[in-house]
Amino acid sequence: MAEKTIDLRVKISRLWLDTPIIPASGVFGYGDELVDTIDYRFLGAIVTKTLTWTETPGNPQPRIWELENGLMNSIGLQNIGVKRFCEEKLPQLRRMGKPVIVSVGGWKLDDIAKSIKILDNQQGISAFELNLSCPNIKTKQITAENSASVFKAVKAIRKLTRKTLIAKLSPNVADICETGKAAEEAGADILCAGNTFKGLYYDWRLEKFYTGGISGSMIFPMVCRGVFELYKKTSIPIIGLGGINSEKRALEMVFAGASAIGIGTHLVIMPNLAERIYKFFIEYLKKLNKSRLSSIVGMKNEKE
Ligand SMILES: Cc1cc2nc3c(=O)[nH]c(=O)nc-3n(C[C@H](O)[C@H](O)[C@H](O)COP(=O)(O)O)c2cc1C
Repeated sequence: MAEKTIDLRVKISRLWLDTPIIPASGVFGYGDELVDTIDYRFLGAIVTKTLTWTETPGNPQPRIWELENGLMNSIGLQNIGVKRFCEEKLPQLRRMGKPVIVSVGGWKLDDIAKSIKILDNQQGISAFELNLSCPNIKTKQITAENSASVFKAVKAIRKLTRKTLIAKLSPNVADICETGKAAEEAGADILCAGNTFKGLYYDWRLEKFYTGGISGSMIFPMVCRGVFELYKKTSIPIIGLGGINSEKRALEMVFAGASAIGIGTHLVIMPNLAERIYKFFIEYLKKLNKSRLSSIVGMKNEKE
């Protein structure tokens, strides 16, 4: 049998990704921070740090703690704000020739809406990722931790843009399918599962507790289960993000139902992780004589 040519580009909803491997928001600056260490050819897109309407200093230091199997962070959405992003970062991002996914978040829905209106008029943005799930900011108005709030936020933003809309879900819920379905019904094109888990760290030197969001390999089994359940109960594509630290974990996420995968913490630790996963996917598809990743998405799972 002739060997098929393998094409790792993926189309999720209306969004074409150069590869199914994307960086997680927040570990990559505005796409320009890791240019010297990461080979961008293996990345499907550039995902920016979450932008808020105005420039935000984030939470006071310390705000990153190293754990045995991951990290805890409490950055608190530090970013340069939408206007500076459009002026200072976007022109350079456009020249990189990659799809650009802009992450947008904030404390008030009105502010997120204002950000989307400005960004929607800019050239060179392929999709928005709606970050309602940051565990490190205090907001009662918008949260990805209940489905009514997710529905309201996604519905409001959906009206403002025709670009691909990714809803980044929180894992800090009893049932991620409830918020996932709410996002889908409100018009999200893609689900991203998901953000960091709420955690607590005790600093013995300072004799003090800190709260933050946990990422890295220790969260993988819970995230993968979330993807597994979302795949059964929703019908839009899923980006599986959380704790991927190897080729096998990436493939497991695809088996569970992810059409693309995200890497954050371990991309920083292992800058060649995207390349390794890319090559592994090619080899795996070759073995099965399949030409595209879509043919194995959810392969070890069943839709309900
Ligand atoms: C230092 C740091 C900063 C982050 N900043 C953001 C952010 O700005 N927006 C966002 O949606 N997620 C942010 N995240 C969460 C990641 O995008 C990702 O959802 C999470 O880290 C799980 O993936 P991982 O285990 O591969 O790191 C951040 C994570 C870390 C570790």
